[in-house]
Amino acid sequence: MTALRKFIEGLPKTELHLHIEGSLEPELMFALAKRNNISLPFKTIEDVRAAYQFSELQDFLDIYYQGMGVLQTEQDFYDLTMAYLNKVHSQNVMHVEIFFDPQGHTERGISMDTVISGITRALEKGQRELGISYKLIMCFLRHLSEDAAMETLEQALPFKDKLCGVGLDSSELGHPPSKFKNVFARAKEEGLYLVAHAGEEGPPAYVYEALDVLKIDRLDHGNRSLEDADLTARLAKSQIALTVCPLSNYKLAGVKDMSKHPLGEMLSKNLNATINSDDPAYFGGYMNENYLAVTEALDLGMDEVITLARNGVAATFCTTAEKSAMMQKLDDYLDQWT
Ligand code: HPA
Ligand code: ZN
Repeated sequence: MTALRKFIEGLPKTELHLHIEGSLEPELMFALAKRNNISLPFKTIEDVRAAYQFSELQDFLDIYYQGMGVLQTEQDFYDLTMAYLNKVHSQNVMHVEIFFDPQGHTERGISMDTVISGITRALEKGQRELGISYKLIMCFLRHLSEDAAMETLEQALPFKDKLCGVGLDSSELGHPPSKFKNVFARAKEEGLYLVAHAGEEGPPAYVYEALDVLKIDRLDHGNRSLEDADLTARLAKSQIALTVCPLSNYKLAGVKDMSKHPLGEMLSKNLNATINSDDPAYFGGYMNENYLAVTEALDLGMDEVITLARNGVAATFCTTAEKSAMMQKLDDYLDQWT
């Protein structure tokens, strides 16, 4: 395992499912609370970590929305994003496609401009100085109305050149993808890529809706698709990418035992699965920890790890030339490894 661990650590990787607000580490949460004169319901960093015990998605979301309250200024969003980029740079991540949740901020009176400017200023610096290329995806909160999502899209259109796509996140059960049919159609008209969380806690029917009603380009999570044989066969045939988040599934109790993680079945059924971290500050690991957790628990070999990394490149929203350049970095790494 030690050799495979080293291999994973050095492997050039992509991250396609990361909520930037979910990368807020308790240390930065305290620092920003102090800077912005906000009082937190926690006394110490240990208290914060102790509160990160979740038995389902909603438990996490309640704490996640509370945590993001410390983000107030453009500099806060910059610092948050820069901390994430520095961390994943140390893990040999070469490309990121990150989510943000503007409604978690605009609802608190923070402007769209503040949020997008701070995040993109850091992404630009990360590209220049760390060599990490990026895309930015704006998510709609599905527990809110489609009208609210449409208003959010309108607010973001002046910054469209900074956005690559739109997504759908937050409380899945009771909020099926079809609720957002019109706003996704509108985003597509604007030339944006479409992704949605589906099949994390929701049933296969939600995955069908994400595919057929929203017409997504990539599926976030998708785990429960495996309950439906026809859907599983369709995902394999279409080769639509799934952004799988192993430690998230484990911490949110969708997967009780990592050795039973559905990634094994996804790979054996030829689904186009990728590895991602979701909300690393809350779920106990960034990219390397997620790769390592499934590799150990499912006893994956080097070939399967390479497949996952290649899937992660192919599933980006980059141009063919950009994908080839990333595949080349992977090949160079494999050449010097053997
Ligand atoms: N699922 C749904 N919504 C989210 C998540 C998640 O894992 N993280 C942040 N918003
Ligand atoms: Zn997510």
